[in-house]
Amino acid sequence: MTTQTEDGVIINLERKINESYDIIIGSELFPGIAQDLVLLKDESKISKFAIITDSKVGPLHAVRLESCLIEQGLDCRTFSFKAGEKNKNMDTVTRLLNQLGEAKYNRDTLILALGGGVVGDTAGLVAALINRGVPYVQIPTTTLSQADSAVGGKTGVDLPAGKNLVGAFKQPLRVYMDVATLDTLDDRNYRAGLVEVIKHGIIQDTNFFDYLEQNMDRILAKDKEVLIYLAKQNSRIKGTVVEKDPNEKGLRRILNYGHTAGHAIETLSDYELLHGEAIAMGINVAGTIAYLSETGFGPEDLGRQNRLLERLGLQIRIPQHITNKQIIEKTASDKKAASGKVRYCLPSGIGDMMEFDGVYSMPIEANLVVKAIDMCR
Ligand code: GLY
Repeated sequence: MTTQTEDGVIINLERKINESYDIIIGSELFPGIAQDLVLLKDESKISKFAIITDSKVGPLHAVRLESCLIEQGLDCRTFSFKAGEKNKNMDTVTRLLNQLGEAKYNRDTLILALGGGVVGDTAGLVAALINRGVPYVQIPTTTLSQADSAVGGKTGVDLPAGKNLVGAFKQPLRVYMDVATLDTLDDRNYRAGLVEVIKHGIIQDTNFFDYLEQNMDRILAKDKEVLIYLAKQNSRIKGTVVEKDPNEKGLRRILNYGHTAGHAIETLSDYELLHGEAIAMGINVAGTIAYLSETGFGPEDLGRQNRLLERLGLQIRIPQHITNKQIIEKTASDKKAASGKVRYCLPSGIGDMMEFDGVYSMPIEANLVVKAIDMCR
């Protein structure tokens, strides 16, 4: 109830929100997804389904998913945009919003984000905006999106000033991780996405890190049993962090390990480097800063971290054409650089991150960052 005061009125909007959701993990899930959506339609106000995908994933998977939904009698259409991080921007969002608006996708819409991180982030933002918000389901089809971006409700797009500078926290209604979709993923993207898996081991779970060291060959061979295990462990690790801090006030920052320098390197490469490739370099930088800062992350930890990254066949050394000055300037414009100070999340060992007065990142002097970058060349 509103309250009258001497100066005006107080709108009392305290409310409890339940944003819990299931992550369903398996292989060959599309027919089951369609059946689930029939049940969802029957028990909710949802009656129209919009698959949002990109030009790469569309022919591989969207055609099949759309057919499964149509076979179940659901009203479904696919909306696609040009693949690539360069298209994760407001132009794409505006185009999709216009297409959905013209096709009369109203408040009874469910959006299905089918693809990698770019699709999930963009489609999630469209879901947050259209008709002031409609539910969406994540169906990640890459190692990167299955390990990281499909869970946790971060949606958003890039601005010329930096990565993910526009967005909203909007949790999905459900996530379907179908490891069979990884069969069509090219080797470069497959390996790059696994960087986020290694990140999870370093920030939270030493046993998981050991498992990755022992099973990397089976992971690279796309062993389905191992992939399902990975998806479950990633969802558990990330889910535990997101449950405690959904809106990144503190703990969730640990998920940004390697992303401060990594995002800068990704942008400075003009997106020639894939997200995971740049994050591998960023993890090298952040691990080196931790080592130089004597957080407890010693040379042995740094060596184990970097060896595992290199087993993915990834380059962890920063390309010479990206200068120290550029990285320092770019990180300063990153949204995590509160009050002009550039904050880094730092491990204190494999499986543990440093906490600084309830905050999980700390401002680092530019000269120390430069020293670390030089060691990563
Ligand atoms: N990818 C980092 C996060 O979801 O918070």
